[in-house]
Amino acid sequence: MDIRRLILKDFRNYAHLDLEPAGGLNLLAGANAQGKTNLLESILFLAVFRSPRAAREAELVRWGQEEAQAAAQIGRGETTGRLEVRLRRDGPKAVLWNGAAQRPQEALGILTAVSFFPDDLDLVKGAPAGRRRLLDVLLCQADGLYRRHLARLNRVLRHRNVQLKGLQGTPKAAALLEVWNEQLVAEAVPIMVRRARAVRRLGQWAAAIHSRITAGRERLELVYQPFYAGEAGDPQEAWEDAAAVRDRFQQELRRRQGEELARGVSLVGPQRDDVRFVIDGADARSFASQGQQRTAVLAVKLAELELLKEETAEYPVLLLDDVLSELDATRRAYLLEVVAETVQTFVTTAHLEPLPSSLRERARVFRVQGGTVRPD
Ligand SMILES: Nc1ncnc2c1ncn2[C@@H]1O[C@H](COP(=O)(O)OP(=O)(O)OP(=O)(O)O)[C@@H](O)[C@H]1O
Ligand SMILES: [Mg+2]
Repeated sequence: MDIRRLILKDFRNYAHLDLEPAGGLNLLAGANAQGKTNLLESILFLAVFRSPRAAREAELVRWGQEEAQAAAQIGRGETTGRLEVRLRRDGPKAVLWNGAAQRPQEALGILTAVSFFPDDLDLVKGAPAGRRRLLDVLLCQADGLYRRHLARLNRVLRHRNVQLKGLQGTPKAAALLEVWNEQLVAEAVPIMVRRARAVRRLGQWAAAIHSRITAGRERLELVYQPFYAGEAGDPQEAWEDAAAVRDRFQQELRRRQGEELARGVSLVGPQRDDVRFVIDGADARSFASQGQQRTAVLAVKLAELELLKEETAEYPVLLLDDVLSELDATRRAYLLEVVAETVQTFVTTAHLEPLPSSLRERARVFRVQGGTVRPD
């Protein structure tokens, strides 16, 4: 899959942009605060309808304007189509595919993307929420059932939490909670099974890529950690069996019911899952060096490409924001030489000079300045 044309209107600092990227590597070069990240953000927004950094969508609308638009002509094999998002400062967004309105939920997966922003470097050591988000963004793009279950799970959790608060001290609390428990299990089990499977497969690719980057010196493993798993972790295969997961879940609901009612909040459920990064058998969260974290994240990002390729039959687009400067020459070469041949890639950088000239020659280079982009 690739973006043949990208059009922005009043999106962030772009009054108007009309860009024809290359099918392979695109280098976006420019000084600070010129709009490089804004451009990647617009592409990611078209893919997942969420910004990685804006707290409110209104932030995406150019200052002083009421509406913003981002549109892309997307090629998939022989066919192309136009995906468009319209944002209003004070209203809901609209998503259109070939001119027809779509629910954002249903339009996920039309354009798929893997992104690597500087904040992702915290993935290994940061809070579990970041690792869950990685799984959710990945699986929502790959799997329509996953995103339906996830949307329903979030609704069930909201209701269940209200209920838990309201029931504190009520004698029949447990019985009244039963209906929410059933719904929680119904939505949560398919999510957990899919996460377990995705982490196993992501882990297989990540391990192979990681081994190549480190020339076989280190071994990376990813371990899915359902909310009820102990630090040691059970065998991953068990987490892919829906019946087994349901049993464990129900056991956990019973075990922690008193605590949930006392605290008035859901303590069980996939909103408390995690993914462990293990390097050479040890938990990377506690010991990995900066370089090891970077390599692990890079391997996982590249593994995401493979997973999406397998699930959707097309490589997603790859968005790399300012990460070249964070990687040493070996990792950089690996990234750009292996990936940019097969995957449409957008790379931002403040400095083109350190990049090998062989690479610059293969790329389409754009200069980004004050919300304008022109071919170099
Ligand atoms: N809604 C908006 N309307 C107009 N301009 C905006 C809006 N949001 C952000 N900007 C401008 O965009 C600039 C940031 O652009 P961006 O993050 O893309 O920079 P960058 O080129 O990636 O820089 P760096 O190299 O520092 O990462 C901000 O400094 C701000 O001036
Ligand atoms: Mg930036």
